[in-house]
Amino acid sequence: MSAAPSKPRWGDEDRAALRRLLAYVRPHRRRLIHACLVMCGVAAISGAIVELLGPLTNVIFVQSTPDELERIALAIPAIFFLKLVFQYTQSYLMSWLGQKITQEIREDLFTHLHALSMDFFWKSKSGEVMAKLTNDMNALQSALQFVPLYVIRDSLTVVVMLVVMFIANAKFALLALLVIPIAGGVLGVLGRKLRASSRRGQEVMGDIYHRFQESLQGMLVVKSFNYEAGAIAKFRRENDEFFHQMMRYFRATALSGPLMEFLGSLILALIVWKSGQAIHLGEMRPAQFAVFIGCFFMVYGPTKNLARANSTLQLGLVAAGRIFSVLDEKPSVTEPAEPKPFPALNRGIVFDHVSFRYPGRETWALRDVSLTIEPGKVVALAGPSGSGKTTFVHLLLRLFDPTEGRITIDGVDLREMSCHDLRAKVGLVSQETILFNDTVFGNVAIGREGASRADVESALRTADAAEFVSTLAQGLDTPLGDRGARLSGGQRQRLAIARAVLKDPKLMILDEATSNLDTGSERAVQAALERLFPGRTVAMIAHRLSTVQKADRIVILRNGRVEESGTHAELLADNGVYATLTRYQQLEAPPA
Ligand SMILES: Nc1ncnc2c1ncn2[C@@H]1O[C@H](COP(=O)(O)OP(=O)(O)O)[C@@H](O)[C@H]1O
Ligand SMILES: [Mg+2]
Repeated sequence: MSAAPSKPRWGDEDRAALRRLLAYVRPHRRRLIHACLVMCGVAAISGAIVELLGPLTNVIFVQSTPDELERIALAIPAIFFLKLVFQYTQSYLMSWLGQKITQEIREDLFTHLHALSMDFFWKSKSGEVMAKLTNDMNALQSALQFVPLYVIRDSLTVVVMLVVMFIANAKFALLALLVIPIAGGVLGVLGRKLRASSRRGQEVMGDIYHRFQESLQGMLVVKSFNYEAGAIAKFRRENDEFFHQMMRYFRATALSGPLMEFLGSLILALIVWKSGQAIHLGEMRPAQFAVFIGCFFMVYGPTKNLARANSTLQLGLVAAGRIFSVLDEKPSVTEPAEPKPFPALNRGIVFDHVSFRYPGRETWALRDVSLTIEPGKVVALAGPSGSGKTTFVHLLLRLFDPTEGRITIDGVDLREMSCHDLRAKVGLVSQETILFNDTVFGNVAIGREGASRADVESALRTADAAEFVSTLAQGLDTPLGDRGARLSGGQRQRLAIARAVLKDPKLMILDEATSNLDTGSERAVQAALERLFPGRTVAMIAHRLSTVQKADRIVILRNGRVEESGTHAELLADNGVYATLTRYQQLEAPPA
């Protein structure tokens, strides 16, 4: 026989994806073997059912023996009951495997996402990541669950049926064998079409998720700018494209089933015609004919499943490939093999000719920045928006590494420390407050592992947040809703400050920490923050210059460069940008 034309075209990617999937299957191989044994049972029972048709035909149509008829009648429910038990066990085991392995991959994915550096999240649309997690997991799960069933159980069933047919009548069995290569040829073509359209469909689906998310998050802007129609129009275009992509996919899938059925009917016609003739000529007995027709119908479902196995597997492998490509993403910020401990921070933090460009950007976000943050001192960074202040923070937290130059703490390069260790010593209150869908307590307690309620309460007092928290219905245990939706901007900011306070960090970074507060509470919170300054090293970013005057040193950034640096008095005397900005903000305080 020539090579089976049904062989799918395996790319290296598919083979690699399959190999990795098998690595997930391996720990559960006993269950898989168990399932395979049960599948053998199912195939054997199907064979037995068809075999029963022979004696049944004899008893009913050829020679009537009531005893045997009774036995056969009793055997039917017994055999089908056995089949029920086997089939249930096999479905249970395969669902378990499919679910278990996807559970493990999902967990690996979630864990791996947390190991990746920030650039990954900024370069990929979170909607696409979401689509990956949902769509691909579904496709993979059904491939894991059904492909072994289709391939093992159904090919075994086909083999059993072929054997039964050969025993009944070899010549006619050969006829049935025609189905497989023909079906294979059709499937080879369909499978390739399916793959391409599925891939494109997933991409469009990512865009759609992205739109949903964008609109849901930005609903305030959408509404206040009457942008509904615009958002809907954009969405409709993508939704439409998705529809067409999916229809292209379903046209191929929808054709494969009926086409198989039609091919089957041709073969059935051939069998009926030829065996009818054979029976007339006395070359075939009615019992054989009954077995034969029984086989034909028994083989039909499994063949259809085997046809589907191809596309299910292909979809699963595409999905697995995409999931693995996320798992293969390497964090751009790497941990040293032997990290040095976080230093005592008694010599200071030095930016040594640091330049930085965001990945994929042409322009420098920071250019040749050299400055020292002395231990126990407060350094304030100011400058127009886009001047690189937040970027400075990103580098200090080692969310990115400098493109050029280096950052050291007590002479130790940040790259030589473990990120975990570094970040454990740094408290950040950022420009955008990020709250999780958790209670007040849960959100603040992120600051320190094992924080008690008393710790959290004291941190809330320091952050000037205790008062508003006490007015919440359930106090500390009040759920905050998605991204803290139930709080005002200022309240969110105070919780973020409490979180950093709880951490009791050596190095405190405030990136416009009070920018969302009204003037009154800004003063209160600023005062609270300043109480924390003694004994800590502080990098404070502010756009309201009133808050930076007391800093030990003020650094003015512009276009990523250090423009000026000095104390409030020095900078005023220099009469440069700082002096101009201060005058502009009309906040120049009379000398104390
Ligand atoms: N995630 C990012 N990806 C690419 N470019 C960025 C990113 N964040 C900031 N930038 C760019 O880096 C420059 C400095 O930004 P940033 O440090 O946020 O300024 P600031 O905090 O002073 O307002 C800007 O030109 C900005 O466009
Ligand atoms: Mg900023």
